[in-house]
Parts: sequence; structure tokens; C-alpha cells
Amino acid sequence: PQTPPARRVRPTAAGRKKGPNQRFSSSWGRDWAVFLCRRRKNRLRRLVGGAVGDALSSHPAVREAAVKAAQEYGMGLRGSSLICGYTTYHKLVEESLAELQKKEDCLLCPTGFSANTALMTALGSISSLLAARRKPPRDQRIAIFSDALNHASTIDGIRLVERQHQAVAFVYKHCDMSHLDFLLSSCSMKKKVVVTYSLFSMDGDFAPLPQLVKLRNKYGFLLVLDDAHGTLLCGENGGGIPELFGCEDDIDICVGSLSKGVGCQGGIVVSSTRWKRLILSRGRSFIFSTALPLPVVASVHAAIHVSKKER
Ligand SMILES: Cc1ncc(COP(=O)(O)O)c(C=O)c1O
Repeated sequence: PQTPPARRVRPTAAGRKKGPNQRFSSSWGRDWAVFLCRRRKNRLRRLVGGAVGDALSSHPAVREAAVKAAQEYGMGLRGSSLICGYTTYHKLVEESLAELQKKEDCLLCPTGFSANTALMTALGSISSLLAARRKPPRDQRIAIFSDALNHASTIDGIRLVERQHQAVAFVYKHCDMSHLDFLLSSCSMKKKVVVTYSLFSMDGDFAPLPQLVKLRNKYGFLLVLDDAHGTLLCGENGGGIPELFGCEDDIDICVGSLSKGVGCQGGIVVSSTRWKRLILSRGRSFIFSTALPLPVVASVHAAIHVSKKER
């Protein structure tokens, strides 16, 4: 069959008719984008992020890597990484991203969304494991402190573990460290996790990492960063926002997306090998989902190489 031209089009429900009662006009998307742009304090970062991602996704070396892998191996691995979807390409990409972010290990997930939910379900599972799979009492659950403007994937992951009585969520005001300090000091639960976006893409501001690190030293919580917009883009070597702030060692787990700065597709959880083992055996959205197709992984590998060479 003839290949249709790959134009960018807006997804719509099939057969939807436009009528006078339609809630949004066809320009709704555009108006909304203009409104958001006006709201953003620092539009430039996001625009730069998009531009670098776009440049890498259409870079000749990245295209070539995808074509070569597709020709040699075909498209799909057709199964979860744990069963049949893991290759030397996946391993190479995991190793280079772990090295880039100065961590022991990295787990490649189907998307950034699934990386965040896998991490949350794995964290929640700790309290169930410790309670010998019974419903853990409230004080033995995981206390998750989440910024009010965190991404939907983090929020959904937290809601999931809350529903399963594995965690209790505390939402602190956006980037408000005195509110977070107050919530942490008044929480008697032992296992505490703080999770935040590193760069809030809709508002254009950074999480106050130096203050978060100070609070981490004070309370000893696990610090989780969603660095979806930082990977390959920020920091001298592309190690992301922890590298930009020089606090890689103070971040316990870093989640990323390979669709932004890397310009491809996929998600990552960068951490110690022990955390990786937990997530890969308890993170349901990782375990029960098909691994990234080889051409995509090959293109990620090429994008990392290009960014190293041309930085
Ligand atoms: C902060 C953040 N986390 C996670 C994601 C999800 O990443 P992906 O698109 O790879 O599923 C996004 C996507 O917009 C994001 O902005």
C-alpha cells in the first residue's frame, strides 16, 4: 500500500460533527496555547527544549539508526522487557544514560508516563511487602510529598498506591519549601518520599533543588525528581537538571522522558541497582507493557551519541 505523507494532524474523534452547540471552536487549541504562552514566565526554556528535541529527532544519524535497525531486526519485540523485549541495544542505552546521569543503573520503560507510574507502584509495594502482603496500618505506609503542579503521571501513580492503602499523599504548595518543611515536620510516618518536577514545563520555573537538598539532609527522605525536560538538554554533559545544579548525588531516583530533549520516545528511571531491581519486579506499568521497539531504542542510542559529539 502507498504510504500516506506524515503530516502533523490533531487527533479527533471519528465522525464528530461540528455544530452550533460544539463547546470548543476549531481554534480552541490555538487559543489555549496562546493563553498558556502568555502565562509562562520563561517560555524560552520550553521552546529551546522543543527545538533541541526536534533537531535530534530529525538528525540524519538518528534517522539512519532507526532505518538500519528496522531493516535488520524489524519493528516490534512484541513483549515485555522481562519476557522477551530486551536486547543489547536496550542494555547499551540504559548504560549510557546511567553514566550520563552519574548513577549506577537505569531502567528503560515504554514511556515517561509508565516510568512514573511504575516507580510509584514499586515504592508503594514496599509497605505491603513489609506488612507481609496484608493491608499496612497507616503509620507503616509510605508518606509521599508531592508538588501541587506535578505531572499527571506522578499524580496518577500516587492515586493508585493510595487506593491500595500502601501510601498516604501530602500535596505541598507549588515550590513552597516552608510548606513542605511544615508537612514533613508534622508527619510521624517513617518512610518519606518527596517527588517533584525538575522544570515545570507549563510555568517555566525550576524546582528549588538546593532547598530540597537541605530538607533531605534534615529529614532523610527519598528524593525523586521528574526530569522529563532536562535529559540531554540541561547540564554541561546533558546530564539534566541535577547536573545543572550540581546535586546529582543528592537525588535518589531520577525519572526522564526520551521524547523531549532526546527527540525520540520512551521513559527512564535512573537510580541505584537496588532501586532498579525493585522497580523492575514491582512496577506494573513496566512489567505488563511491551518494551520499546528496537528502531526507537537504536535512534535513542544514536541521539545520545550525537549529543555527546556535537555538544
Ligand atoms: C514532567 C513530565 N513527566 C512525564 C511525562 C510523560 O512523558 P512521555 O511523554 O514520555 O510519556 C511528561 C510529558 O509531557 C512530562 O512533561
